[in-house]
Amino acid sequence: MSAKKLTTKTTSLKGEIQVPGDKSISHRAVMFGSIADGVTKVQNFLPGEDCLSTISCFRKLGVEILQDGSHVTVIGKGTEGLKGTEQILDVGNSGTTIRLLMGILAGLPFESRLEGDASIAKRPMTRVTAPLTEMGADISGKNGGEYTPLIVKGNKLKGITYELPVASAQVKSAVLLAGLQADGITSVIEPVKTRDHTERMIRQFGGEVDRNGDIISVKGGQKLMAASITVPGDISSAAFFLAAGAVVPGSDILLKNVGLNPTRTGIIDVLTSMGADITIAQYGDRASEPAGDITIKYSELRGTTIEGEMIPRLIDEIPVIAMLATQAEGRTVIKDAAELKVKETNRIDTVVNELNKLGAKIEATEDGMIIEGKVNLHGGTVSAHGDHRIGMMLSIAALLCESDVTLEESESVAVSYPGFFDVLYSLA
Ligand code: S3P
Repeated sequence: MSAKKLTTKTTSLKGEIQVPGDKSISHRAVMFGSIADGVTKVQNFLPGEDCLSTISCFRKLGVEILQDGSHVTVIGKGTEGLKGTEQILDVGNSGTTIRLLMGILAGLPFESRLEGDASIAKRPMTRVTAPLTEMGADISGKNGGEYTPLIVKGNKLKGITYELPVASAQVKSAVLLAGLQADGITSVIEPVKTRDHTERMIRQFGGEVDRNGDIISVKGGQKLMAASITVPGDISSAAFFLAAGAVVPGSDILLKNVGLNPTRTGIIDVLTSMGADITIAQYGDRASEPAGDITIKYSELRGTTIEGEMIPRLIDEIPVIAMLATQAEGRTVIKDAAELKVKETNRIDTVVNELNKLGAKIEATEDGMIIEGKVNLHGGTVSAHGDHRIGMMLSIAALLCESDVTLEESESVAVSYPGFFDVLYSLA
């Protein structure tokens, strides 16, 4: 585990950058390529640790996958091409890998063992094992299937109608992936709209998926065909630079080719409502996922309230939004975000504890936090706690700090953004 001395007292960030490929879309491109027929080519794949865990699991299941940096080729032979293995399917730190993979394994005629790191071992899995069991899969795990290690015995599945108890794209995706192999129709009812990359990708691989209000349905037995996928830049990675540009005086940053899927752009709405100077040039329809260039410049910010249907549109950006709020005039309230407690860390606790060490005034609540601004941040020793987004958020906070900041477990950023520090400091 490595401690890193962070850059502090920064005066302006200027330049043009391209953030790496979207994590959610990169995972799905490998998964769909693995269950489709033919050769899938993925451009701008994110070679972060999480997505490499997905590649490694599918290789263990017998899929031939070639990876050269951000270029990936998947030789798909349909779901029949996946073979059982004695090896443990190690998902590392990746919730998306384990949950979506379970949806695929649920309908396959063999047994698999899934495990991950210490963070994965604490994350709830019943949200996925419950609907998959209802469809006919046989899944066991620690505490009645709540935690890893999990054993998934695939079976012939039947379609179900499932009302999601939590707004989770991972759970929705697992049920839809199982539904593609089930008898009849599988429907998922969303309490609040969540990211729709799985639905878009089913269509890109030649499948059909219907959306009727808040009900998403797939027919079982569909054959998917290989596709060419160009992954846009990850707006969740861009968020750290958008925040940095907004709070470091004199900044002017251009972010090229950022994914602008409306189920993911809550950070842009929040920055706008806080008074940020942000301009978007959206590209014309080039692919199934919208993208564009974003310019952010420093400006004075004001506090805001974030709640309800907005939460899934920015769930991964809440740590950096909390940091932004420390630099905004007045109070920012974040509510309806209890899901933060079951991310890579309990992100209510880690955000509050670590930012307060640097002088922030943040109070944890049951389902979010209350942040008072504007405060001057001082130095200190903070930790990423193995959580990539906490590490990157603290590195942005440090830019404003008046004395030295040391970040423990800084290596965690490689989960979603290898090279993050080089890019950040190239702008300073
Ligand atoms: C993801 C969905 C979200 C998000 C995660 C990636 C996905 O999780 O926090 O980083 O790729 O589907 P939930 O669906 O559990 O909210």
